[in-house]
Amino acid sequence: MEKIQQLKERFDAFINGVDFIKVPSGLYDPIAYTVLQKGKRLRPMLCLLACDMFGGEFNEAKYPALALETAHNFTLIHDDIMDQAPLRRGKETVYKKWNINQAILSGDAAMVTAFDFAMRTHRPLEVVALLNQVMIEVCEGQQYDMSFETQATVSIPEYLEMIRLKTAVLLATSLKVGAVVAGADEKDQKCLYDFGIAFGMAFQLQDDILDCYSDVAVFGKVTGGDIVENKKTMMYLKALELASPEQRGRLEDLYLGDIAVNSQRKVDEVLALYDELNVKDAVEQLMAEYFRQATVALDAVSLPEERKEHLRRYAEMLSGRQK
Ligand code: IPE
Ligand code: IPE
Ligand code: MG
Ligand code: MG
Ligand code: MG
Repeated sequence: MEKIQQLKERFDAFINGVDFIKVPSGLYDPIAYTVLQKGKRLRPMLCLLACDMFGGEFNEAKYPALALETAHNFTLIHDDIMDQAPLRRGKETVYKKWNINQAILSGDAAMVTAFDFAMRTHRPLEVVALLNQVMIEVCEGQQYDMSFETQATVSIPEYLEMIRLKTAVLLATSLKVGAVVAGADEKDQKCLYDFGIAFGMAFQLQDDILDCYSDVAVFGKVTGGDIVENKKTMMYLKALELASPEQRGRLEDLYLGDIAVNSQRKVDEVLALYDELNVKDAVEQLMAEYFRQATVALDAVSLPEERKEHLRRYAEMLSGRQK
């Protein structure tokens, strides 16, 4: 626990000392606004924990960790436009606070800034190559996510591949970057990457659940946003799988039908169906299975258990998250 806290505090101190404010302010203020918010700092923490685990230096991992956080924030700035989300981390989203054009441009600049940060380490080429690879994968995942909104049927394997790309690969890469910076061998890099994929799948399933059931004051995002946007989340797909023909018809009408339902009524009715079908339990079971797979991947890393326990604990902590 101390180790987790210590790395978080060191990273916070480091990020607070980075100057994001430049001119023109219209371009840079939204970046500072987003990156300096109180996010969980999950991606940098995974990077720093992985680096520490293999005996690497914090100072070699801090800029790559910042690169990963900045790249993540770029995806969020654009994601909130695509998802028409008004609230994130309890604050107005960038395109709401400024406007869509500014959010597009600041997002672009945030991504370039991320690549600049990624070079500030002793293994810049490897880190930049990993960031390149992962950013294109995230874009692919985001494209599937959007295409699925209007695609009549989406299978569970298609959904799983979509969340692997939009979410899990960035967590996996964060761990791999930490391992690379610390000089871990390829086999261990791969085990950590696999841990990150399984953990990331669970993390996105949890996000899908929280989107339906969280308290907005804690989660910081509008509850039911996925339902309003016709997102084919695992909640929706499991509901279809478990539904009777009559329930299936109701759900499909609410999502795809022409009937004009106001969004709050749509959210209430979809959630009522999810409750009838115990969808949350089904998705939680799948999530638990991915957390279990993550544990198995971490077991395979060739380090003594005491070197792995911080990451293990960190993942456990997040498995009970409410935000
Ligand atoms: C949000 O990521 C996007 C998803 C992959 C679900 P986080 O839940 O890590 O967001 P912050 O950075 O803590 O706000
Ligand atoms: C997260 O998907 C994926 C990326 C931002 C790349 P979501 O759209 O579910 O994330 P939130 O819920 O807005 O944070
Ligand atoms: Mg999205
Ligand atoms: Mg979103
Ligand atoms: Mg979400």
